[in-house]
Amino acid sequence: MKNASHDRLLIIDFGSQVTQLIARRLRELNVYCEIHPYQNVDDAFLASFAPKAVILSGGPASVIDDGSPRPPVGLFEFGVPVLGICYGQQVMMHILGGKVESGHGTAEFGRAYVTPSERSLPLLEGWFATDNDKEQVWMSHGDHVSAIAPGFEVFGTSPNAPFAITADVSRNFYAVQFHPEVHHTPNGAKLYENFIRLAGFTGDWTMGAYREEAIRKIRETVGDAKVICGLSGGVDSSVAAVLIHEAIGDQLTCVFVDHGLLRQGEAEEVVRMFRDEYHMPLIHAEEQELFLGELDGQSDPETKRKIIGRLFIDVFQKHAAAVGGAKFLAQGTLYPDVIESVSFSGGPSVTIKSHHNVGGLPEKMGLSLVEPLRELFKDEVRALGRELGLPTSFIARHPFPGPGLAIRCPGEITRPKLEILRKADAVYIDQIRKHGLYDDIWQAFVAILPVRTVGVMGDGRTYDFACALRAVTSVDGMTADYYPFSHEFLGETATRIINEVEGINRVTYDITSKPPGTIEWE
Ligand code: XMP
Repeated sequence: MKNASHDRLLIIDFGSQVTQLIARRLRELNVYCEIHPYQNVDDAFLASFAPKAVILSGGPASVIDDGSPRPPVGLFEFGVPVLGICYGQQVMMHILGGKVESGHGTAEFGRAYVTPSERSLPLLEGWFATDNDKEQVWMSHGDHVSAIAPGFEVFGTSPNAPFAITADVSRNFYAVQFHPEVHHTPNGAKLYENFIRLAGFTGDWTMGAYREEAIRKIRETVGDAKVICGLSGGVDSSVAAVLIHEAIGDQLTCVFVDHGLLRQGEAEEVVRMFRDEYHMPLIHAEEQELFLGELDGQSDPETKRKIIGRLFIDVFQKHAAAVGGAKFLAQGTLYPDVIESVSFSGGPSVTIKSHHNVGGLPEKMGLSLVEPLRELFKDEVRALGRELGLPTSFIARHPFPGPGLAIRCPGEITRPKLEILRKADAVYIDQIRKHGLYDDIWQAFVAILPVRTVGVMGDGRTYDFACALRAVTSVDGMTADYYPFSHEFLGETATRIINEVEGINRVTYDITSKPPGTIEWE
């Protein structure tokens, strides 16, 4: 920790639903921060983390209740700027000599407007500039501060929060009742920008700095041991592999499992890029026969998924064992996975999700984990990928599921059907790219349907497969809406698929959102 080459901000989490957003806002400002649950933060932790500033998050508790969450005892003597948000504000006031009360009809949930006091405050630079001298903010509090602590002054009020913004300027303590991190506080980012400027941050959290530090840490952790990495061709595992390779070179071996369910040209692209361009030791595990053999005759979606999951682990383990003496397994775990596993009430167990990529393998094979992306959000991983020189076309690729084309081939999977599906999918994606729509779409693919239909081509009758085109917009894959292609686009694409792909004579467009549908067909 002490070797960190950049300034660090500590967010003490009291359990708010939106704590992660504080970290997002700060990272956008090139400030390195970490979220830690309050239970894990004592004075010793504070000293070793050595933050340049601290933010106290919101939370569901009432500061008046016995045993309610507290920051470490020495925080307010630690000598760094502190910003308290919602519960964080209340706990600050409570500890520093103010008063917090419940009830009296002063709870506020949702939109509110804050107006400034006569005095100006550097924290509020750029606030109250427009819109009749008021700012929209998002409130979500039951308790409220009824008396501020000695040394604090009021700088903003709302109808139900007379102490909406307060500060003890001499000690650099700031407290707000609302949530500046959420979308519904439109000028909230400005408040964070001002806070980190007041705290002396220089915005040194850049991908260049991250890359160097990550490489140093990987070298320290791994020493001269061997590392294996399951490469799927997706963004996370690819970025992790390139970064680790840069750190330890040929001590890393990647295992790319080709289950015969990849898209057209996909295996070749991954192998060419990692083996030929990055010169990484890469095992291309060609296990098409094994996977397609065991899937033969299976049509139940869950059975297919289970077969693929089981074989994937077997195959990975077999090839990884062949590397000989590997001590570490590399994974592309991201920060949201880490935050989810260090729950507010769950304490310090950061390893809960350690096998979310290759279930159970680290224990089975006696491996330790290397997870160089565990401090990053998805868009930061993409930025790191760019920093490492991965091609943009690769970094911006649509997600592709682990079971691959198997779940886009409802019913029995046969090689001829997979071949038809690959060709149709390639034409569809080509169309999307040609029309400049690829980056507007979260995910697009073709599913080949287990039904054949009658058609007429030239003077002859055809009896071929029908397919469905799928394209959705989404933020996180949890919910999705179908993409509103023009009729011209759909017509042109259907014509191209039928003309260019032997075996398909009918094309449909799937206009189901999620829910009630899912993105994939199985
Ligand atoms: P669904 O179909 O559940 O998919 O709406 C949501 C997102 O998850 C992807 N997906 C998977 N990814 N292994 C993966 O790595 C899987 O088994 C899997 N199943 C679905 C899907 O492509 C979409 O992006």
